[in-house]
Parts: sequence; structure tokens; C-alpha cells
Amino acid sequence: MSEPDPPPVAAPVASTPEPAVAAPSVVAVRDLRKTYETPSHQVVALDGVTLSIPAGRFMAIMGASGSGKSTLLHVVGGLTPPTSGTLLVEGNDLARMSDRARTVFRRRRLGIIFQDFNLLPTLSAEENVALPMIMDRKPAEETRRRAREMLSLVHLEHRADHRPDALSGGEQQRVAIARALLNDPAIILADEPTGNLDSRQSLEIWRLMRRVCQEQGKTILMVTHEAHGAAFADEVVVLRDGRIVGTLAPGGSGDASPVAAGYQELAT
Ligand SMILES: Nc1ncnc2c1ncn2[C@@H]1O[C@H](COP(=O)(O)OP(=O)(O)OP(=O)(O)O)[C@@H](O)[C@H]1O
Ligand SMILES: [Mg+2]
Repeated sequence: MSEPDPPPVAAPVASTPEPAVAAPSVVAVRDLRKTYETPSHQVVALDGVTLSIPAGRFMAIMGASGSGKSTLLHVVGGLTPPTSGTLLVEGNDLARMSDRARTVFRRRRLGIIFQDFNLLPTLSAEENVALPMIMDRKPAEETRRRAREMLSLVHLEHRADHRPDALSGGEQQRVAIARALLNDPAIILADEPTGNLDSRQSLEIWRLMRRVCQEQGKTILMVTHEAHGAAFADEVVVLRDGRIVGTLAPGGSGDASPVAAGYQELAT
């Protein structure tokens, strides 16, 4: 007697290649376009970008000046609306949210880091870190404890009382990273976080980002023009004229040479 056929489980579905945006991911972007209108002409900054960032992945974006890196980061962060395409962050369509809901989502679920640190000059390091919880009117004791915890994560507990002007550039960026981590965000978005730092401080920041990914399991999207920084990411996406032209996979090695060589080939 022959065996009965196995039940037709989900095999046909499972073997069908899914579009990238259907995979479980923190960020899912499909066919994203962004056009800026200026009085004299149109600038196509993003020209059909599709990518997905799984939880826990450290992804870097590289590309020549004007290739659309910051625009992509700003769209993912809900700071700039896309012209068309879909964008989901933790399954939320930021473009459909009210301005108020988007602002709250950004504060609670996104950690954003900029080149110029964006710290408030009159507040101490600890107060700067605590800001997102203060704005959410969280209890003072819990806020202080959490802010201290984050400062110690970036090894700056001994600088808690310092104002930004009494911190080095690298220390200021570490405060900004501590602030970005405060609310245990879904993703950290960083636009050239080492753009204002020397090479020693830059290396410190890249290592910290790698550690945050590895030890805290954080998902990171970082724009950089430095192969050395991108080499600390798991994956590097290369943009040219608003399109993804390829990806590299340094696997967080920190080894810049293969990234520099691969980038050279893709970007030119
Ligand atoms: N607000 C704006 N209005 C009009 N054009 C813009 C605006 N912002 C960016 N652009 C244009 O869109 C394109 C992409 O800009 P974007 O800032 O994303 O580039 P980038 O890759 O981050 O460059 P860089 O490495 O110099 O920071 C550029 O041609 C830029 O001039
Ligand atoms: Mg930029």
C-alpha cells in the first residue's frame, strides 16, 4: 500500500519568492520616490528605492554627495514626506499619520543622531539624555535612573553634570547616542554621525554603534561617506543618483579595504 500524499502545507507559498518588503522587518520601503520642487526645476532625490531592514541589522548607506543618502534617512525618520512609494516603520505608515502622531512616534520609537549632535547648550549631559522622557512627563526618579544607565552605557557617567560646551565632540556625540537609546527605540537613524569628529573620535563612535547593535540588539541605519565607518556595519547599501546600485557585506568586521574597493566599483 502506498503512503498517503502528505498534506499540501504551505510549501508552494513558502517557495514563492516574497518581495523584500514582506519580510519581517523594522523598516520596509518599496519604490520610494522623493522629488524636490524648486522655482526653476525639479530634483529627483530618490528614484525608486526598495529595501528592508531586519531587526538587529546594522546597515550603512554610502554614496556620492547628492546621491540621496540624507533624503532617504529623513524619509525613513518621518522628517520628510515621500513623493510616492510605501514606507513602514514597525508596520506603521508614517506618511498617513497626523503631524502630532508622527512627532510622538519619532520621540518614542526612533533614535535620531545628527552630524552636529543637536544637544541643548543650557542642559547638562544627563538632562540632554533625559529629554525624551521629560517631554513624555515620565516620573522624575525613573527618568534620572534611565538617563544615568544610558550615560554609563556610553561610558560617560563621570560627565553627567557637564554642559555640551564642556565636552569634546566625541563625548557630545556619545551623549546624543545615549539620548537616542533612552526610549529603547525600534531603530537608530544616524546621518554622518562622525562628520564633525577627528579620526580617533570617529573610530570610537563606530565601535560604539557596533556594540549597541551587538549587545543591545539595536537596528541601525547610518549614513556615512567613510569606508572605515561603513565596515562596522553588517551591510552597506550604495546609492547613486537616488537609486540603489548595489550592496556590500562587511559583516561588521571593521575592515575598510574591501568596502572601499567595492564602493569604488559601485559608485562610479
Ligand atoms: N530641500 C531641498 N530642496 C531641493 N533640493 C534638495 C533639497 N534637499 C536635498 N535636495 C537635493 O536632493 C539631492 C539629494 O540630496 P541629499 O541631501 O539627500 O544628498 P546626500 O547624499 O545626503 O549628499 P551629502 O553627501 O552631500 O550630504 C541633491 O541633489 C540635493 O541638492
Ligand atoms: Mg547628506
